[in-house]
Amino acid sequence: MMTRFFSMVLVCGLLVAAVPAQAQTKEYIGAAKCKMCHNKQPTGEQYNKWAASPHAKAMASLKGDEAKNPKCLKCHSTAFGLKLSDTQTITVAEGVSCESCHGAGSAYKTPTIMKDKAKAMAAGLVMPDDKLCKKCHNAESPNFKGFDFKTYAAKIAHPNPAKGQ
Ligand code: HEC
Ligand code: HEC
Ligand code: HEC
Ligand code: HEC
Repeated sequence: MMTRFFSMVLVCGLLVAAVPAQAQTKEYIGAAKCKMCHNKQPTGEQYNKWAASPHAKAMASLKGDEAKNPKCLKCHSTAFGLKLSDTQTITVAEGVSCESCHGAGSAYKTPTIMKDKAKAMAAGLVMPDDKLCKKCHNAESPNFKGFDFKTYAAKIAHPNPAKGQ
């Protein structure tokens, strides 16, 4: 009886504790925040690799009024169209940023969560697949050149060599 009572208390406690975490909105934090931890050579300097990639330069492809056109911005900039609160540090100028592929980072960026992949995924980390890329890589793009996940993923690869990949 007592054991059962305590497990009931425990379950209720967990349910209560889970509510705020679920309701917490995940906000976009911008590539500069990821850079603090993801720009060391031994672990693959993901920031530098991204900064040299077409995704980081996607806004430079939009000329004149195109840079204000929602029809172009929706695929060329992660920050476009977000409701920016004061805490959000992502800019439209950074183009297709980390979080278009890896999900909004406010809840998974904490070191203790990041180090544990399962926890990070539960907090919104995404490991992108073919389907995610095709949200932008599709025929709606005026410059669509086709899309093959393996070939395209290799072109933007930024693995962590410390993990032996
Ligand atoms: C406070 C440091 C820190 C910040 C800030 C941070 N990360 Fe991480 N991240 C880590 C650590 C540590 C790991 C685990 C080691 C690894 O996989 O590189 C990790 C792992 C990852 C992984 C690989 C998950 C896996 O296990 O395969 C991805 C993807 C990732 N981070 C993306 C991001 C993105 C995107 C941002 C910014 C929105 C970000 N991180 C911000 C420290 C950080
Ligand atoms: C939010 C939209 C968006 C998503 C999601 C996205 N991309 Fe892109 N991608 C772009 C845009 C925009 C460009 C063109 C950048 C430029 O040159 O202006 C591009 C360009 C590229 C290029 C260069 C193509 C070339 O012709 O040289 C590669 C490779 C690529 N993306 C791979 C990927 C992969 C792999 C994924 C999924 C893991 C992905 N992209 C997800 C928007 C996106
Ligand atoms: C559905 C998403 C999407 C929309 C909408 C979109 N783009 Fe793009 N854009 C891309 C992707 C993805 C690429 C990369 C080309 C590829 O590999 O298919 C790209 C590439 C480009 C390039 C580089 C040219 C090249 O040949 O690589 C320019 C310039 C460009 N887009 C301009 C625009 C303009 C201007 C608009 C608005 C009228 C626009 N895009 C709307 C996704 C999009
Ligand atoms: C266009 C999509 C895209 C963008 C933008 C992007 N990534 Fe990734 N990232 C990927 C893909 C695809 C993988 C490989 C996923 C897998 O292995 O399942 C990956 C893997 C990673 C990993 C894991 C590496 C490993 O070997 O464990 C880290 C860390 C990471 N990305 C961080 C970042 C950071 C930080 C940024 C921005 C500075 C960024 N990514 C931008 C698509 C992207």
